[in-house]
Amino acid sequence: MNQSTLFDSQESSIKNATEVRKIAETWLGKNKIEKTINLGLPEYDDRWNYWRVALLAQQNEREPIGELRVDEDKVICTGNLEMIAERCKITHSSVKRRKSPSITFRPIESRVLLGDAKDVLTDYPPDTTQLIFTSPPYFNAKPECHESLGYSDYLNMLRDIFTECHRVLSEGRFLVVNTSPVLIRRPHRQAASRRIPITYDLHQILNDIDFEFVDDIIWEKPEGAGWHLGRGRRFAADRQPLQYKPVTVTENITVYRKRTDMLIDWNIRNHPDQQAADLSRIEGKYERTNIWKIAPANHPEHPAVFPVALAERVIRYYSFRGDMVLDPFAGIGTTGRAATKLNRRYMLIEKSKAYFKTLCSDLAENNPIKSYEFAAGAL
Ligand SMILES: C[S@@+](CC[C@H](N)C(=O)[O-])C[C@H]1O[C@@H](n2cnc3c(N)ncnc32)[C@H](O)[C@@H]1O
Repeated sequence: MNQSTLFDSQESSIKNATEVRKIAETWLGKNKIEKTINLGLPEYDDRWNYWRVALLAQQNEREPIGELRVDEDKVICTGNLEMIAERCKITHSSVKRRKSPSITFRPIESRVLLGDAKDVLTDYPPDTTQLIFTSPPYFNAKPECHESLGYSDYLNMLRDIFTECHRVLSEGRFLVVNTSPVLIRRPHRQAASRRIPITYDLHQILNDIDFEFVDDIIWEKPEGAGWHLGRGRRFAADRQPLQYKPVTVTENITVYRKRTDMLIDWNIRNHPDQQAADLSRIEGKYERTNIWKIAPANHPEHPAVFPVALAERVIRYYSFRGDMVLDPFAGIGTTGRAATKLNRRYMLIEKSKAYFKTLCSDLAENNPIKSYEFAAGAL
């Protein structure tokens, strides 16, 4: 048998995943392996302009055992069919398969909560959230952290809250965190300023909690952002090696998945509302690289908001319509505004009364808030 197996499709051009699936099913039938092999969700590879469909052993859908590449008029199977059939048998006999669990979502309404995220989340049942998008308080932000916490206490605070986040997140769903290394200004002329790599320290914590790293997206701001911090002025004047310090115009958007042995396909195929899943498809243009150019946002009452365009992009790419989106460090509720616009539900937690008040009035302008809650001692 050839390394590659070709199949002439009836179609001259493929328009969507349903068509690809039909072509791939016909190919399975022709090769008499439709009873042992399932197909993964077709994915369009826009680098090479063809569709990819994973071949999955029916007895163990976790590890693909081959791939079909479908382009306008042919199907190419990467790998030898006999070997694939053999691997199928091995997987069949040796792997004890977890029964594919069904998915249900709790019909909780959108809500805003005043209180410390750790206390608030402790009371929440598991599996109540389908996406978490958040930007934790900066370590150097006043008055939230810097003056009251040392760096290790700060990281412990994040560990506690993200542990609760992990518990309330549904299996296989995503946590997206906006962070960046922060600058601690030098206290006097004889001292040096320091940059603290929050993104990387937090990564270790999230990995320990059992979030699986998926992607690092760079949020790039237009040139000019970051100049006010005065970084790099010394180098600009002296041009001495070792003094070089770039002006920071980026932040990190780090993507994690709640660790599971189920494939992402499982989350999509078993979504309890297939119509919502269908309506959530991202049609038209989308961001193809991990550099997202988005202008920063300002708010008269909060010093560190992220732009609604950023929240919209994350929510669109990592959740379905109707999903519950949690922001445990909600600020003025940008995540909630984006979630409403995209027909998702939201759960927003903020511990500052002042920001909570702004959050409530900003959100109420466009959408009625369904439920207010206050953690013990919050008022
Ligand atoms: C970087 S800001 C988030 C801003 C938000 N992304 C927005 O666009 O409005 C972090 C927020 O977390 C809040 N915060 C800090 N510690 C918290 C905690 N333990 N529980 C809940 N909120 C907290 C701060 O008051 C601050 O408003």
